[in-house]
Order: sequence, then structure tokens, then C-alpha cells
Amino acid sequence: MDRSSHLYLFIVLLQWLIDYSSAISAVNTDRSSLTAFKSRISFDPHNILTKNWSGEGSICSWMGVTCDSRYHRVTQLNISSMGLVGTIPPEIGNLSSLVSLDVSENSFHGPLPPSIFNMSSLEVVNLRNNSLSSSLPLDMCKYNLDRLKRLGVSYNKMYGKIPSSLDQCSQLEFLALYNNNFSGFVPREIGNLTKLQLLNLGANKLTGDIPEEIGRLTNLQGLGMSANKLKGPFPETIFSMPSLQSVDFASNELSGHLSPQIGNMTSLLRIGLEFNNFSGNIPKEIGRLSNFERLSMSGNKFSGPLPKEIGNLTTMYGLLLHSNALSGHIPIEIGHLINLEELQLEVNNLDGTVPKEIGNMTFLSYLWLNNNNLSGIT
Ligand SMILES: *[C@@H]1O[C@H](CO)[C@@H](O)[C@H](O)[C@H]1NC(C)=O
Ligand SMILES: *[C@@H]1O[C@H](CO)[C@@H](O)[C@H](O)[C@H]1NC(C)=O
Ligand SMILES: *[C@@H]1O[C@H](CO)[C@@H](O)[C@H](O)[C@H]1NC(C)=O
Ligand SMILES: *[C@@H]1O[C@H](CO)[C@@H](O)[C@H](O)[C@H]1NC(C)=O
Ligand SMILES: *[C@@H]1O[C@H](CO)[C@@H](O)[C@H](O)[C@H]1NC(C)=O
Ligand SMILES: *[C@@H]1O[C@H](CO)[C@@H](O)[C@H](O)[C@H]1NC(C)=O
Ligand SMILES: *[C@@H]1O[C@H](CO)[C@@H](O)[C@H](O)[C@H]1NC(C)=O
Ligand SMILES: *[C@@H]1O[C@H](CO)[C@@H](O)[C@H](O)[C@H]1NC(C)=O
Ligand SMILES: *[C@@H]1O[C@H](CO)[C@@H](O)[C@H](O)[C@H]1NC(C)=O
Ligand SMILES: *[C@@H]1O[C@H](CO)[C@@H](O)[C@H](O)[C@H]1NC(C)=O
Ligand SMILES: *[C@@H]1O[C@H](CO)[C@@H](O)[C@H](O)[C@H]1NC(C)=O
Ligand SMILES: *[C@@H]1O[C@H](CO)[C@@H](O)[C@H](O)[C@H]1NC(C)=O
Repeated sequence: MDRSSHLYLFIVLLQWLIDYSSAISAVNTDRSSLTAFKSRISFDPHNILTKNWSGEGSICSWMGVTCDSRYHRVTQLNISSMGLVGTIPPEIGNLSSLVSLDVSENSFHGPLPPSIFNMSSLEVVNLRNNSLSSSLPLDMCKYNLDRLKRLGVSYNKMYGKIPSSLDQCSQLEFLALYNNNFSGFVPREIGNLTKLQLLNLGANKLTGDIPEEIGRLTNLQGLGMSANKLKGPFPETIFSMPSLQSVDFASNELSGHLSPQIGNMTSLLRIGLEFNNFSGNIPKEIGRLSNFERLSMSGNKFSGPLPKEIGNLTTMYGLLLHSNALSGHIPIEIGHLINLEELQLEVNNLDGTVPKEIGNMTFLSYLWLNNNNLSGIT
């Protein structure tokens, strides 16, 4: 061997040594992160971590831990539904190869350490149904979360504003903040998250309007904003969202009309607008939604007749329109709705007779027609 090949060999060896020792040190960092995590568990009813997360062996065999086969770094941590009580330490942010974190269905409390939002490999974060209480860092998506696809925080005690920087987590497909104490406005920047398929902000304390930018979410299938304090008119842009299957705006203070354009929302299956301040007619174009399942609009100010085209919606199982100002006859076409399980038309101004075709609804288990001016069955 000549001098230069000696040198080459030396460099390769050195590089290998550096890689090897940094891999070892990363593996040790993963171990100390998990050890810190374990030390914050105050109750482990099935002794899962207490017994299993111990010993000198590889952390990759610890329950709920998955590593990649090459570098033995922790890529998944899934300790869902283990009945654990504890807090989440900031050291969790040192699991720098973590792709998926699932601590859902436990009793973790205290704040969510901001270091969670510093892991650049993260794709899935599921924190559902714990008692976590802090705000989300306002800059949470500004640095490293450009792979995050799913963020589930529903059923916790989180509060503060929904960060407007969320739009920089541009790969988000699933965002669920249901049942927390988030307040302030729905940030219009959410309209930039065009890959979103599910957005649920329901059961919080959000105020203000629904931003019309929501209409830019052309891949959105489920939109939930029920049980907040949202006001103002319903943005028309909602009616041009082609993928929407389910809309739930129940129990807010929203107003406005249902546009005839609703007939073009051919993916739509369920609408929940109950207990708001909506008004106007029920557009006959609704009859074009051939797979429609549930129309829930009780407790508003809808007026005018129940359109006979409603009889087209033969797959519908719920028609809930009580406590509105509907008038005119109940169309006999209602008898086509042979899959209907719930029919609530009470407390309206309907008149005429109850069509005998209602007898065709063999699955009907809730029928409410009282407080109208109906006069028997024809
Ligand atoms: C922990 O649990 C895993 C999976 O059940 C098992 O393979 C491993 O041997 C356990 N380790 C200890 C120390 O109990
Ligand atoms: C975690 O494990 C549970 C059940 O063991 C599973 O249902 C869930 O999908 C897993 N979470 C992730 C993010 O893979
Ligand atoms: C892990 O993270 C904590 C807090 O985020 C930090 O103080 C600590 O130095 C880190 N430990 C290692 C081994 O990197
Ligand atoms: C995030 O990581 C960077 C380095 O990548 C570090 O400087 C910063 O302190 C970390 N922030 C948090 C909140 O852990
Ligand atoms: C949350 O978890 C508890 C058990 O810790 C369970 O009783 C409750 O039904 C769960 N809530 C939801 C909404 O899933
Ligand atoms: C929201 O905050 C109120 C008190 O401000 C509290 O009573 C309630 O339990 C909280 N709800 C949630 C889901 O955290
Ligand atoms: C995100 O949305 C805001 C407000 O709707 C807009 O001003 C901004 O240009 C958008 N950013 C990107 C990167 O699209
Ligand atoms: C439905 O869409 C078609 C084609 O885009 C359009 O011509 C029509 O006016 C729309 N109908 C309603 C009621 O908006
Ligand atoms: C409901 O709408 C009517 C107009 O249709 C308006 O006068 C009233 O103030 C609204 N009520 C609420 C609670 O927003
Ligand atoms: C009722 O459905 C038929 C096809 O199922 C369709 O041709 C018709 O246009 C619909 N009527 C209304 C009023 O939407
Ligand atoms: C009700 O069912 C009978 C047969 O049981 C059928 O002849 C009639 O057309 C149905 N009426 C409606 C309105 O669908
Ligand atoms: C109920 O209907 C009858 C007969 O159709 C009519 O005379 C009466 O004024 C109506 N009552 C109300 C409260 O609309």
C-alpha cells in the first residue's frame, strides 16, 4: 500500500468511528429520555413500565417502544390505554428520530412540554383523552414540524389561542382539538392547510366568525366546530367544498341561509346546524344529495315548506327539524324515506294532515309532530 491509500483507509476508519460513536451517544440519549419519562409516572396500575422498562438490555424491547433496525433509534412510542398517571418531561424532545408518539387514553396531566414540537421526524402525535393543561406554543409549527400529518389533542384541558402558525405544519391531514378550553378566534391561516381531511375544533370557547378561508380546504371531509361561541353569518365558501361529508356547527350563535348550492356538494352525508340562529328556506336542491344520511337543524328559524324533493333522500336515517318556523303541509313524498329512524318536526307551523305514507317507515323509532297545526292522518 502506498501512502495515499493508507491515508484513505485512515479517513474511512475515522469516519466510521465518528458515526459509530454518535450513533451510540444518540441511543444513550434515547435511553435517558425514556428513563426520564418513566421517572415521571406516578401510577402504573398494571406495572407495565415499572417492570418492563428496566434492565441493561436494549430499550428497543421495552413495551410500546419501536426502533429502526439500522441505528436502533426510537421511532415509535405507543403507550396508549395503559392507565398511566404522570406528567410528560421535556426530555421527550430528545427522541430525535421519533416518528410517532401515542400517549392517548391515559391520565397524563400538567403542561405539554414545548420540546415535543421540536422533533423533526414526527408525523403522528396522539395525546387524546388525558388531562393535559397548557397552551400550545404560538410558534409550534415554525421550526421542525414539516412532516406532521396527525395532531390529536381532543379531550384534554388545553387552553389559550389556536396558534396561527399552525399553517406552517403544512402536511397536516388530521387536526382534532375537540373538548378543550381553547379560546379566541379560529385563525384564518387554517385555510392554508390544504391537505386537511379532518378538522375538529368543537366543544371549546372559540368566538368570532368562521373565517371564509375555511372554504379553501378542498380535501376536507369532516368539519366540526360545534359547541363554541361562534357568531355571524355562515361563510358561503362552505358550499363549494367538494369533499365535505360531514359538517357540525351545532350550538353556536351562527346565522345565515342554506344556499341552493348545497345541491352541488355531492359528497355531503351529514349536516348538524341545530341550536343556532339560521333562517330562510330549506332549498329544494337538497334533493340532489343522493347518499345523504342526516339533516339536523332543530332550534333555528328555518321557515317555508318542507320541500317535496326531500323524498329523494331515501338513504336518510335522521330528519330533525323541530323548533323552527316551517309551514305548509308535510309532503307525501316523505313516505319514500323508508330508512328513517328519527323524524322530529314538532314545534313548527305545519298544517294539513299527516300523510299516511309515514306508515312506510318501518325503522322509525322517534316520531315527534306535536305543537303544529296538524289534523290527523289522511
Ligand atoms: C418487555 O416486554 C416485551 C414485550 O412484551 C418483552 O419482549 C420483553 O422481554 C419485556 N422485558 C422485560 C425486561 O420484562
Ligand atoms: C397505538 O396502539 C394502539 C393499540 O395498541 C393502536 O390502536 C394505535 O393505532 C397505536 N397508535 C399508533 C399511532 O400507531
Ligand atoms: C434532553 O433534553 C433536556 C431538556 O429538554 C436537556 O436539558 C438535556 O440536556 C437533554 N439531554 C441530552 C442527553 O441530550
Ligand atoms: C429546539 O431545538 C433547537 C436545536 O435544534 C434548540 O436550539 C432549541 O432550544 C429547541 N427548543 C426547544 C423548545 O426544545
Ligand atoms: C377517556 O378515558 C377514560 C378512562 O381513563 C374513559 O372512561 C372515558 O370514557 C374516555 N373518554 C373518551 C371521550 O374517550
Ligand atoms: C374549562 O375551564 C373551566 C374553568 O375555567 C373548567 O371548569 C372546565 O372543566 C374546563 N374544561 C375543560 C374541557 O378543560
Ligand atoms: C396563509 O393564510 C394567510 C391568511 O389567510 C395569508 O395571508 C397567507 O398568505 C397564507 N400563507 C401561505 C403560505 O399561503
Ligand atoms: C352547481 O354547479 C354547476 C357547475 O359548476 C353550476 O353551473 C351550477 O350553477 C351550480 N348550482 C348551484 C345551485 O349552485
Ligand atoms: C338572530 O337573528 C335575528 C335576525 O334573523 C336577530 O334579530 C337576532 O338578534 C339574532 N339572535 C341572536 C342570538 O344572534
Ligand atoms: C331526485 O333524484 C333523481 C335521481 O335519483 C334526480 O334525477 C332528480 O334530479 C332529483 N330531484 C331533485 C329535485 O333533486
Ligand atoms: C308506501 O308503501 C307502499 C307499499 O307498501 C307503496 O305502494 C307506496 O308507494 C309507498 N308510498 C310512498 C310514498 O313511498
Ligand atoms: C289551524 O288550522 C285551522 C284549519 O286549517 C285554522 O283555522 C287555524 O287558524 C289554524 N291555527 C293556527 C294557529 O295556525
